[in-house]
Amino acid sequence: MPPLFPESASTMASRVDALYFFLLAVSGFFSLLIAGLIVYYAVKYRRSPDAIGANIHGGLLLELTWTIVPFLITMVIFVWGASVFFAMSRAPEETLNIYVVGKQWMWKFQHLDGQREINELHVPVGRAVKLIMTSEDVIHDVFVPAFRVKADVLPGRYTSIWFQPTKPGRYHLFCAEYCGTRHSGMIGEVVVMEPTAYQTWLSGGTAEGSLASAGSKLFQDLACNTCHRQDAQGRGPVLEGLFGKTQMLQSGETIVVDEAYVRESILTPGAKITAGFQPIMPAFQGLVTEEQLLELIEYVKSLQAQPQVPR
Ligand code: CUA
Repeated sequence: MPPLFPESASTMASRVDALYFFLLAVSGFFSLLIAGLIVYYAVKYRRSPDAIGANIHGGLLLELTWTIVPFLITMVIFVWGASVFFAMSRAPEETLNIYVVGKQWMWKFQHLDGQREINELHVPVGRAVKLIMTSEDVIHDVFVPAFRVKADVLPGRYTSIWFQPTKPGRYHLFCAEYCGTRHSGMIGEVVVMEPTAYQTWLSGGTAEGSLASAGSKLFQDLACNTCHRQDAQGRGPVLEGLFGKTQMLQSGETIVVDEAYVRESILTPGAKITAGFQPIMPAFQGLVTEEQLLELIEYVKSLQAQPQVPR
């Protein structure tokens, strides 16, 4: 490949490129065909200015051809494009999850083990990585050309993308949504490492402890534990084993407890009240940062796996 093209460093790269080249070939073929025919016919059928052309009606075969052929071509593009799109938007079951917070004008990454990074993201080669992203202010967009992934990062909700790096190296990371004065400086690097080097990097990190443990501490600092108790005697719902479950709401609707729901329930608890509970929880809007929200979410998630030690 000439240097016009970004490196291919994820499992998705070749699939995206193949589709891209197909589109390019189709466009190129028809552009040349049409331009060529225009020139050819202009020369072949040139007449004196006052000549009157033959009056032709119909041409069933021709009309069917120019309807069916483009239809088939667009269906190929549609099915192919959809399959690539689904592969990109559906992360595998097992992913390495990393939280991303965009803000004017930097990228903040939080690993579940507690490492934090700014404008630099370390990931191991060969593992599916899922980025769960939100913004502190305006709309940003994370874009790693070498992985062929790109997704908007929105304030007030979580979006995610996934990729599986195929070779170690350093790859550019861009913000691809105009977000203010220093948008063009909102760049960084994804560092893809061999698994052993990655482990070394991980263990060389901060001693702050995992996100979930930071969340656990925060949960107590904010006195959440006075109402959300394990024994079902609290004034708030039991959080143990809640994440991923389907919850019945006061309104009669049901909701799947995901990151977005936990986030909303912390910031504006009155929005979706769990059936059987009173809307008495104070809103934490403005009181917790995006990073702290992620810690609390990870803490709620961590209440799944193992039976909790009594607090
Ligand atoms: Cu952030 Cu552009």
